[in-house]
Amino acid sequence: MNVFSDNYLNLTMTGLAVVNKSYAASDPVKTYCLEHSTKLHPVQLKLQEQTLKLEQGRMLGAPEVISLNAIFIRSMRAKKVLDIGVFTGASSLAAALALPEDGKVLACDINDTWTKMAQEYWVEAGVQHKIELVLAPATETLEKTLDNGEKGSFDFAFIDADKPNYEKYFELCLELLRTGGMMAFDNTLWSGDVLDESKTDLNTSALRELNKKLSSDPRVTAVLLNVGDGLTLVTKL
Ligand SMILES: C[S@@+](CC[C@H](N)C(=O)[O-])C[C@H]1O[C@@H](n2cnc3c(N)ncnc32)[C@H](O)[C@@H]1O
Repeated sequence: MNVFSDNYLNLTMTGLAVVNKSYAASDPVKTYCLEHSTKLHPVQLKLQEQTLKLEQGRMLGAPEVISLNAIFIRSMRAKKVLDIGVFTGASSLAAALALPEDGKVLACDINDTWTKMAQEYWVEAGVQHKIELVLAPATETLEKTLDNGEKGSFDFAFIDADKPNYEKYFELCLELLRTGGMMAFDNTLWSGDVLDESKTDLNTSALRELNKKLSSDPRVTAVLLNVGDGLTLVTKL
């Protein structure tokens, strides 16, 4: 396909925000990027295919986002990962595949049905022993983990649950991460809505406030990327 198709040029030249997950639109540049990235594990492909058939399938983590997480996890030689928002298990699976045998993902969600699906994929990929799933509001799980003495012991956190709590997750994960540890926040462009001041719903407002906070918080360095639905990467100083 010609990358500079009329449709693609129209979208970019009209100044409309081009923000989307690679599976959500036929964007030839995103397709090219995926084709020239390491192939996903067969169980990751199966999970993606089956999840996209669900009514809520669009909540699935974009492959470019979870693969980027996996690259950081490998490069950092991470051992402990927090996954806030599991859904059908894609982000936990990508993390577990990237972790060493003695690595651990603390996977937080509140939904029994979707995480049952997730557990089936983790078993099929042979990584279930690396993932501890806790079904409870993530703020509670993170607070309990701090109370257990795990402060400063995690290498990486992926934040992809309810948007109004993102700021709380930031504060709690900041305590749980070691210095030099990383957080990745998904959906920080929210389909481009954060740029549109007329959008004042709870999710958009929470993400807009978080973006402001992260870009000026002296405890971290942050970069907001137009990858997937917006991905903010943060390093703990
Ligand atoms: C966007 S999905 C996560 C997608 C997943 N990371 C992936 O890679 O496919 C959001 C998930 O957050 C969960 N969630 C919503 N509110 C939550 C809360 N308060 N605590 C923990 N999980 C929550 C939902 O049940 C849902 O499964």
